[in-house]
Parts: sequence; C-alpha cells; structure tokens
Amino acid sequence: MSDPASPPPEPTAPHGELVIRTIAMPADANANGDIFGGWLMSQMDLGAAIVAKNISRSRVTTVAVDGMVFHNPVYVGDIVNCHATLLKVGRTSMRVDIEAWVQRGKDGTLLKVTEGIFTYVAIDENGRPHPVHREHA
Ligand SMILES: CC(C)(COP(=O)(O)OP(=O)(O)OC[C@H]1O[C@@H](n2cnc3c(N)ncnc32)[C@H](O)[C@@H]1OP(=O)(O)O)[C@@H](O)C(=O)NCCC(=O)NCCS
Repeated sequence: MSDPASPPPEPTAPHGELVIRTIAMPADANANGDIFGGWLMSQMDLGAAIVAKNISRSRVTTVAVDGMVFHNPVYVGDIVNCHATLLKVGRTSMRVDIEAWVQRGKDGTLLKVTEGIFTYVAIDENGRPHPVHREHA
C-alpha cells in the first residue's frame, strides 16, 4: 500500500492527443536564458484551442485557465509537446485539459513541465457566445 504522506509518482507518459509540437528557441527565453512561462502557456492555449475549434467548428475565445504549476524548466532546444484532452462540453463552453512535456537531450528523455485546464467559449462574429452544438450551414 502506498504511503499517503509521499508525493504521487512522476507521470511517465503524456495523456491526450498531440496537438502542438515545436522547438523552444532562444527568442522565447527569459532573462535567465530559460524559456519564458508565458511562451509555454501560449503554446498550450493554441493547442487546446485547436480542440475547441474542431468540436464547435466556430471561432472560440479563452475565458479561463485553471490550476497551472510549472514543475520543470524548459530549456532552449527542448522539443515541446502539448497533449490535449476534451473534459467537458457545456452549452457554449468547452473545458480542455492540456499537458506540456519536453523531450530533452540525446536520448530524448520525456519530462512533464506543466498541465492546466483551459476553458473556451464558442463565439459569433460579434464576439457573443453561441451554443457549441448548433446547425451548421
Ligand atoms: C468569453 C466571453 C465571450 C463570455 O461572455 P459572457 O457574456 O460572460 O458569457 P456567459 O456568462 O454566457 O458565459 C459563457 C460560458 O462561459 C462560461 N464561463 C464564463 N466565465 C467563466 C469562468 N470564469 N470560468 C469558466 N467558465 C466560464 C459560462 O459558464 C458559460 O458556459 P456554458 O454556456 O457552457 O454554461 C466574454 O467574457 C469575453 O469576451 N471575454 C474575453 C475573452 C478574451 O478576450 N480572451 C482572450 C484574452 S487575451
């Protein structure tokens, strides 16, 4: 039986559909020379938005981001993979879990960097919410 006081084991494999794959570049680094957290969040936002757009077949906008903790740094040259899982479809909103992992070094060691839940709203041309499931012309 596992010790309730010990931290959960590090995940070893990503969950969800691979929606973004890119390389962290020097232009994305902060003053320490490591990758800026905002850059990684924007990749996650793009990846999760792809899922929301495909579900709603509509423009979408990000309304909320929940529960993000950065567990590991991202270095210039890391391969960054974002994996998305649709959690819930509401009337006009969609919740998408997105994990960011890096592949690093010669052996391509996989490390989970962070995970968050991004919520999108399907919007019309005036930016107003509309139902996710609707008749498509
Ligand atoms: C997203 C936006 C269109 C929603 O408009 P609104 O008039 O507040 O719409 P509603 O109150 O009807 O909410 C729409 C849906 O969003 C959900 N929602 C609203 N606020 C939320 C929050 N803080 N967290 C999670 N879901 C939220 C509602 O529950 C609702 O979901 P449902 O229809 O599935 O039940 C509007 O708030 C907006 O334009 N925000 C700015 C978005 C933006 O620019 N994002 C990028 C920032 S750089």
